[in-house]
Amino acid sequence: MNTIRGKFITVEGVEGAGKSTQLSYIESYLRQAGKPLVVTREPGGTPLGEEIREILLQPRADGMADETELLLMFAARAEHLSQKILPALENGKWVLCDRFTDATYAYQGGGRGLDKSLILDLENLIQGHHRPDLTIFLDLPVEAGLERARQRGELDRFETEDIAFFERVRQAYLDRARLLPEIYRVIDASYTIDEVKHQVNKVLDIFLSHNE
Ligand code: TMP
Repeated sequence: MNTIRGKFITVEGVEGAGKSTQLSYIESYLRQAGKPLVVTREPGGTPLGEEIREILLQPRADGMADETELLLMFAARAEHLSQKILPALENGKWVLCDRFTDATYAYQGGGRGLDKSLILDLENLIQGHHRPDLTIFLDLPVEAGLERARQRGELDRFETEDIAFFERVRQAYLDRARLLPEIYRVIDASYTIDEVKHQVNKVLDIFLSHNE
């Protein structure tokens, strides 16, 4: 986000990759580095966005059209950007966001099979030129991740999808990483929590050294 002072960092992961643990680690790293920080998530991050999140994650007997899902993700995002993310960045704050538009490419594009050019059109419409400065992607083979995720108990509307869905999600993230090497950092999340933290630490050290 070049015209803006703060930095926008997003964290993505396949199911069960330990995203929450690493997010709190990243948060404490950035706070210790003295960065004024806003921590938020998608879908959600604003009162209206959180209501949309409820609709999106609740298992539904009557299903939901893939296009509805896509538009709800971007509806929540439009609100999130205008109410929270952009004002924070303009005030010089750093924003750490648990998932963002890359999740739309992965889940609605890869998982649901929606046309990526449609997602790109919505991305341009809703975000203009705004994109993350750094995206940390926690990667893990799908089987291992689902095993970990299923131990968490109650499943949301996405978590009940089959393995093939999550293979497509993972592949779409890896494709994005290849497409955007200057923004993406892929972390192998199959290691222990401490080893993953160590890898995350290295990525943040380098990022901060370029953005003091
Ligand atoms: P979470 O489980 O990481 O909190 O994310 C909520 C779910 O929403 C997760 O299964 C991924 C999904 N999601 C999408 O399908 N598209 C999106 O654009 C976003 C932000 C999340």
